[in-house]
Amino acid sequence: MLKHLLSPFRIGNVELRNRIAMAPMGVEIVESDGSIREPVLRYYEERARGGAGLLITENTAACYPRGANTANEIAVSDDKYLPGLTALAKTAHEHGAKIAIQLAHHGKVGRFDTREGRPLLMPSEPKHSGFPSGPLDLTIEEMTEMGRAAGGGKPTIHVATSEDLKQLAADFADAAERARRAGFDAVEIHGAHGYIFSEFLSPAWNFRDDEYGGSIENRSRLLCEVLRACKERAGQDFTIWCRIDATEFGVEDGIRFEDAQRTAELAVEAGADAIHVSAYADPIGAGFTLGPIVHKESGYADFAAGIKKRVAVPVIAVGRIEPETGDQLIAEGKADIISMGRKLLADPELPAKLAAGRPHDVRPCIYCYVCVAQPFFDKRVRCAVNPVTGLELERAEPVRSVAATKKRVLVAGGGPGGMEAARIAALRGHDVALYEKASQLGGTLRFAALVYEPNERLLRWFEEQMRALPIDVHLDEEATADTVRAWTPDVVIAAAGARRGRPEIPGVNQAHVFDGNDLRALLTGDSSEEATEKLSFTGRLAVRAGRITGISSDPSRLREASRAYMPVGKRVVVIGGGLVGAEIADFFAERGREVVVLEAGPVAATEMAHPRRWRVLHDLREAGVRLVTDATGLEIGLDAVRFRAPEAPGRDPVEQSASADTVVLATGLEANAPAAAALESAGVPVVAVGDMTGVTYIEGAIHDGFRAALDI
Ligand SMILES: Cc1cc2nc3c(=O)[nH]c(=O)nc-3n(C[C@H](O)[C@H](O)[C@H](O)COP(=O)(O)O)c2cc1C
Ligand code: SF4
Repeated sequence: MLKHLLSPFRIGNVELRNRIAMAPMGVEIVESDGSIREPVLRYYEERARGGAGLLITENTAACYPRGANTANEIAVSDDKYLPGLTALAKTAHEHGAKIAIQLAHHGKVGRFDTREGRPLLMPSEPKHSGFPSGPLDLTIEEMTEMGRAAGGGKPTIHVATSEDLKQLAADFADAAERARRAGFDAVEIHGAHGYIFSEFLSPAWNFRDDEYGGSIENRSRLLCEVLRACKERAGQDFTIWCRIDATEFGVEDGIRFEDAQRTAELAVEAGADAIHVSAYADPIGAGFTLGPIVHKESGYADFAAGIKKRVAVPVIAVGRIEPETGDQLIAEGKADIISMGRKLLADPELPAKLAAGRPHDVRPCIYCYVCVAQPFFDKRVRCAVNPVTGLELERAEPVRSVAATKKRVLVAGGGPGGMEAARIAALRGHDVALYEKASQLGGTLRFAALVYEPNERLLRWFEEQMRALPIDVHLDEEATADTVRAWTPDVVIAAAGARRGRPEIPGVNQAHVFDGNDLRALLTGDSSEEATEKLSFTGRLAVRAGRITGISSDPSRLREASRAYMPVGKRVVVIGGGLVGAEIADFFAERGREVVVLEAGPVAATEMAHPRRWRVLHDLREAGVRLVTDATGLEIGLDAVRFRAPEAPGRDPVEQSASADTVVLATGLEANAPAAAALESAGVPVVAVGDMTGVTYIEGAIHDGFRAALDI
């Protein structure tokens, strides 16, 4: 199993225990002076302990503070940073991992330069702003926070002189040599993602007419000079490679793949011991999910294979690569090392679990982009599914250690919050019982799994954890005050989910209007006579058949089956364009429905981390879904929904209507205080988590459940 991925490998002069590298990820755990302290060490320690062969650090600032993206970036520009750097290299080695430092200069993206009043270093005066022409899909709060992260100042630009470029090469060479002294095994020069080297490589940003502009050889010159300078200063035997963009998606005149292949050849001639193949697109907007944070599975695998054809050094592939695919890419000679980013935020132990033959135990990333939204706001990383990520110092050891006093913990509700609470409580040695009123675990996650496939992997993982751990799971049994009195727990964790109210919209009680309860019941097989009564005869038969065959309890099969039939008309109006409304709209549009989404606020899907929102809203628009924001005064008629909304941003609202065979209410979720109060009546302390306390979605539920169980 996975014998290629898990086999040892040599990159330059560095021996790796396997071919899994942690991709560089700017996690901003460093606190505003560039120095590495305990929290950073513990973050990397978890990944080294988790079995990766190679850790590539987050982008670090070779010329700190110049060219840094944030004050919270690791600095490598002075010997005063050596103690932290040395401790980091030592930490990785103590757990058998090798560690490369990613050296960067952020060029046009160097927010910290703007913040400190320095101009941004660029190859040329830019000819475009880098902003998309369509809607930004950001809230005012997000834009304000992004502005604050950049210091609120207006960026100015300094076009690099040849003196600047010499200085840059000298700074990188010093930083590489310093990294070697600190004990790092290798250096990765960050030549990608719109930062300084990538700007020189890109015809969309480099308009120079000197030896650094024009032909691809000239545009690659700066990167090659820096590689040579690093080798000369740090030693020819010191392993150094670069990360490059295979392409710039959607950027007119941007880097083309043929350019990237040539750059790779030139970099190897200049001494690069490997090439790490990433890609880039616009930093703002849906392009961000094409590059660098690719949404498509194995989205860059062909690029890696294409670069590998042209160079004799190892090629590192990246981009949502599943372990099996990574293994196959190596077997087929299309890549040598598989670099994984988000997967190792979600589960740092992924390599060790694979090596131990426990792939089902790997907590899956759900590609929700919460982690990578953080750097936009200059905030420390967090992961929706792994509450330890970014807080390893405070949380990693407590999760591993058994609680001083064993307690009886009753978890009421088997959704993500309840399952996470049960998992952590059981890991810490408590006696745990979990009660779920439905016939299957999952709660809202089961419905979320239907509309977004990565959520299903999380559901399966939780189910597996509930089976593997000593948790007494009761299905088809709702925890009540009587249950609490009978089971006599020390603490109850109430995770029974939100209340779903019907919004007060005229016409809301008609037969073609489905609320969240109805939809959940129809699509996931939870029994609800009220919901099925609303269906036609064929609809009722189909739902019944789904239940009998078990299809409606299996998100993948149901996803497929729903392509052929769904109890939903041709024209669908979704009321509420939040996370749930947007995901449902996407699901319906993919199944050929004409969809209109009516959102009361100015921006849709605000509960999604903004990079995912960019992707989803872009996909909705591409699929022809009409997204109406600022929609008020709704009235549901027999075959249409009337509302008031501006026809274009900034205009006054006007009366409009949208035809509807089916109306779906994706609003009305609220905290479930009455259910928590009912449990409290048994006289045992109750901690409410997740949607019971407000609407917190998967991330909030998991984090709440985790905290509640850790606090016992
Ligand atoms: C939170 C986060 C921060 C990132 N920061 C960096 C970075 O500092 N340098 C870099 O080259 N790439 C960075 N990336 C991109 C990753 O290295 C990787 O190429 C990308 O996430 C795709 O790989 P994945 O699908 O395995 O996550 C970052 C990605 C994430 C998720
Ligand atoms: S925050 Fe979301 S996308 Fe990022 S690693 Fe965690 S699960 Fe994956």
